[in-house]
Amino acid sequence: MFSKKMEKALNDQINAELFSSYLYLSMAAYFTRKNLPGFAHWMNIQSQEENAHGMIFFNFVNERGGNIELQAIEKPAFEWNGPIEVFEEVLKHEQKVTSLINNLVNIAIEEKDHATNNKLQWFIAEQVEEEANATEILEQLKIVEGKGQGLLLLDRELKTRIFVNPITQAV
Ligand code: FEO
Repeated sequence: MFSKKMEKALNDQINAELFSSYLYLSMAAYFTRKNLPGFAHWMNIQSQEENAHGMIFFNFVNERGGNIELQAIEKPAFEWNGPIEVFEEVLKHEQKVTSLINNLVNIAIEEKDHATNNKLQWFIAEQVEEEANATEILEQLKIVEGKGQGLLLLDRELKTRIFVNPITQAV
């Protein structure tokens, strides 16, 4: 069992992860419209990963005997001005998620909630990877100026991404 403050913060995080899933799904649809199937595939997997992140928190709150209160998911953006702008938003969004996770750890420490703190450590490491992946793709897009043959090559590369379910890793 955890404190009301921790419970509320974890419920908010479920919403933040599900919003991330929604945002990346919207980006997947954008790339499909732009005939970039590799980017769309990458975003679809990213969306699935975020859904799984939400479910890790969902399962954890249930496991600890807490109350889940699902909230409305905000409408994500629909249109972007090219792939560079999309990945600038991905990086900015992941940096925001990192600060949310850090804040959860702060609350867990304040509340002396060692079990939640322990669970959150997986997310701390995951966010390092999330920011690194977004930065790498953004920087490569900048090299090819987000267009031409370079963009098509990157699209082929992103199509090879394989979904690894975080739920099996984070336990
Ligand atoms: Fe669930 Fe991309 O952070």
